[in-house]
Amino acid sequence: MKLDRREVMGAAVGAMLLGASGVPAGAKAAQKVSFRHGIASGDPLHDRVILWTRVTPEGDPPQSLQVEWEIAKDADFRRVIRRGTTLTSGAADFTVKVDAAGLKPDTEYAYRFRCGDVVSPVGRTKTLPVGNVDNVVMAVASCSLFSTGFFNAYRDIASLDRLDLVMHLGDYTYEYGGAPDQLGMSIGQQIGRAPTPAHEAVTLADYRERYACYRSDEDLQAAHARAPWIVVWDDHDTTNDDWVGGAQNHQPSEGSWEDRKAASVQAFFEWIPIRPPEAGKPRVDISRTFELGNLATIIMMENRLVGRDRQVDLRNPTDVTWNVLDMTGPDQPALVTDPAIRKDVLTAALTGKPVPAPYEVRVDPESLRKAISRPDRSVYGHSLEEWLSGQLRTSVAAGKKWQIIGNQVVMARTTGADIVDFLGPEGWQKAYAQVTPQLRPWLKQLETLPDDLPFEFDGWDAYPAARSRMDAMLASSGGRPVVLSGDSHAFWVNSLTDAQGRQVAAEVGTTSITSSSLGNMLGGLELGPLFSGSCPEVRFCQHLTRGYSLVTLTPDDMRVDLIGMSTVLQRDYQRFVLKSFRLPTDAEGHIGQWEDLTPTA
Ligand SMILES: [Fe+2]
Repeated sequence: MKLDRREVMGAAVGAMLLGASGVPAGAKAAQKVSFRHGIASGDPLHDRVILWTRVTPEGDPPQSLQVEWEIAKDADFRRVIRRGTTLTSGAADFTVKVDAAGLKPDTEYAYRFRCGDVVSPVGRTKTLPVGNVDNVVMAVASCSLFSTGFFNAYRDIASLDRLDLVMHLGDYTYEYGGAPDQLGMSIGQQIGRAPTPAHEAVTLADYRERYACYRSDEDLQAAHARAPWIVVWDDHDTTNDDWVGGAQNHQPSEGSWEDRKAASVQAFFEWIPIRPPEAGKPRVDISRTFELGNLATIIMMENRLVGRDRQVDLRNPTDVTWNVLDMTGPDQPALVTDPAIRKDVLTAALTGKPVPAPYEVRVDPESLRKAISRPDRSVYGHSLEEWLSGQLRTSVAAGKKWQIIGNQVVMARTTGADIVDFLGPEGWQKAYAQVTPQLRPWLKQLETLPDDLPFEFDGWDAYPAARSRMDAMLASSGGRPVVLSGDSHAFWVNSLTDAQGRQVAAEVGTTSITSSSLGNMLGGLELGPLFSGSCPEVRFCQHLTRGYSLVTLTPDDMRVDLIGMSTVLQRDYQRFVLKSFRLPTDAEGHIGQWEDLTPTA
């Protein structure tokens, strides 16, 4: 193929930078280096893409390292489009990020880096399309706990013939370490897979080491090398159940919350191929949009550190009231009002001591209802809700056919699913007996809380006012909103409806790459039918498959293939298509009802 004028100009600039040998003049690095964390690209636009690598200096780290980059039309780098030089240092953990501009829309490129005479692996990337677009194919992934499995799903993504981009919805890394007592290490010890550092990540050095550990994984490297990624974080990229002012898994003994948050955010920006935030925007606000020509706008949402309100905490007396019940007649528990008995029993319960017979403590359901229903509570934060509303309107006004919202926590209502009833008394006792002791108090609550209350407090069900505002926003957008969610470690195909039962959006929840679902934690129970059977918004749910979703978007419909891995406990696996669904458009051009395309056996 003939080079066009712009390509020739790019090559000429490159020729000035590189000597005849191809090694840049003045970069005779005596320093030995390697590219052991691979390469990556991300945040593609129609004319540019972020290129990423990390240089590992061997021995004493130098003050700085000069790194060359080049992006070409071919993997042999005979048709180089752009070249450049950049510096990195310990201040950026020797990571390299380049915004390679001047590219053509909807075009595949190869890229690589060079430091001294060491050349990196070659990556493939692709710019976004403009104008009319026939289709876009994206893999949607989330939740890769290093210890609970091999990254077979990432390897599978790397092997896809057709792939335009990868969307990662968070929990790319987890804070838990590789010591035997850390979450997931019961499996990690069995399969010989432990993340470093061994302890929970708290400091900048910890988070950097955690990313380096993950990015040493060859399957993850291969998936990054395959296509550009668009990534948002979720809680575990900092720590479990975080919100603006703290996290369930952050204790005062671990230092200040602000320091920990800043450390995790800095490491994320160093190691993830994300464009730096625009000037004046808070560093934690990684919400951003991508245009797929006239086909769609992708709106990526931040749901933790910009404006999320604290999760309701059952142990927090300012959130809920605990009732003390006299269980002398087990079928007729009597409410205890004596302050002295209440004090003794509640003190025992809240300090983890056995509750004296014949008493039992239970959360007062009405107080919990009140706590979660406060109208000002928000998942995204009010400023981001407003921003999302504006982005939806802008996209629809520009004639984009789809509005794809990159979300984290599954939005569909899952209240009404009675796990205790579903399992039956025997199944419930079995599940209770085999879960980790940390999960038992939570399971106990499940047993006693009425079904209209959420079974966990980090999800949208525990922020009903925020969900109502979302419904109104989605309904009034006039577009075709589709919410893509992660976090739950299960597959979901949902139709989101407002209080009047009108469909306002479709939702696809993607399963985890490796992390265990609630069904796994309860001893390998398939809870999917419970949710699809009792929650009107849930069309399909499946808890026991690890994998990812493959989304194919066309002007007329969206196809979703739920891709499963036969195992993540060993590196050999078979891929299978668990289910395929199609989301058509109705006569008015709005989203229709999901169609199950899965062939019947
Ligand atoms: Fe997760």
